[in-house]
Amino acid sequence: MKRIGLFGGSFDPIHTGHVRLARFLVDALALDRLIVVPAAVSPFKTGAPAGASDADRLELCRLALPDEKIEVSDIEIEKGGVSYWIDTVRAFASQYPGDELCFVVGEDQLLQFHKWRDYREILSFATLVAVRRETDEGDGGFAAYFAAHPEIAARSKALAFEPFPVSSTEVRAAVGAFADVSALVPPAVETAIYRRGLYLDDEIVRMIADVKSRLSEFRFFHSMCVADAARRLALRYCGDPKSAYIAGVLHDATKELSRKEGLAYMDGHGVCATDMERRLKKLHHAITGADYAKRVYDPGDEIVSAIRYHTTGKTDMTPLEKILFVADFISDDRDYPGADGMRRRAEGSLELCMEEGLRFTIEDLAKEGRPIHPDTVACYNQVLLQTIRKEQEL
Ligand SMILES: [Fe+2]
Ligand SMILES: [Fe+2]
Repeated sequence: MKRIGLFGGSFDPIHTGHVRLARFLVDALALDRLIVVPAAVSPFKTGAPAGASDADRLELCRLALPDEKIEVSDIEIEKGGVSYWIDTVRAFASQYPGDELCFVVGEDQLLQFHKWRDYREILSFATLVAVRRETDEGDGGFAAYFAAHPEIAARSKALAFEPFPVSSTEVRAAVGAFADVSALVPPAVETAIYRRGLYLDDEIVRMIADVKSRLSEFRFFHSMCVADAARRLALRYCGDPKSAYIAGVLHDATKELSRKEGLAYMDGHGVCATDMERRLKKLHHAITGADYAKRVYDPGDEIVSAIRYHTTGKTDMTPLEKILFVADFISDDRDYPGADGMRRRAEGSLELCMEEGLRFTIEDLAKEGRPIHPDTVACYNQVLLQTIRKEQEL
């Protein structure tokens, strides 16, 4: 006979507190398996605006819990509509006949448990495990509740656990504010949230949808990876993570225009470009992309300029311009030889990473017998001289 734990909730999104509790439950209850069950729509939240889609929440749970003994079930999400725990427990009871089932509830849920639909039948299938705060003085009202509901007490056990102090509401607010959420959610969840553009304000969600509609799946994925990389660099180097993210989302928005379309865009919108820039298609999208961002979203001069110079670089780049330039080299989707070395370099210094990236670009263009934009040469010289000066000063 196996012991199987069930852990339901909205998980919108799953956070560090959930992950720690899940691992604690496996050990404390000596479980053979813990099944995490994201709800399609919690009966207590009916009518609330959705934070993320069911599929997103499910995927975030899977990313957060790669443990062998923990699985994430889509049973409630597949069923759709309002989730009632009795239906879920009944389904698992028939899936695991002869095994011992238990399910976990928090303090708030326990005190409402007698209002759950068919709660007596739920208890006929599974033991209720009520988790209370370890540091609470008293027992969180558990003893009084169990005394008032002996039929529930007979099929329950209490477990003390010190929860990680975070809620999904706080995580959503922190994500939307572009705060550092690295302690609040597992790293894979943080990456997925920003790559999918979840819990962000409507204007950014609109930008993401627009960029998605303009690009192939591959290029859109790249754009979102660059947005996430730029956001992380901004957090690391005291830049503005929101501006960095927006610059990343928009930086390649016009990348898939053909040569003819790029030139027509410049002519149609009166966009200035040198003869060399008009002739080199690779440079078109930085020029048209900056104009497109300004025209459609007007996200501010610094973001527009970061997009304008993300391919060539230039002298006297602002921190945001450097961040986007580097993010485009080190985003997670990049797998060119030396990409990991670039990522390590970017952890130490934006300028050292730029120097390497510019050298790489210049060598590559020279080898192919292609022209090198004067901004790229000037940028490389300036960054190199600054690096050399720093070394000499040392
Ligand atoms: Fe680009
Ligand atoms: Fe790019």
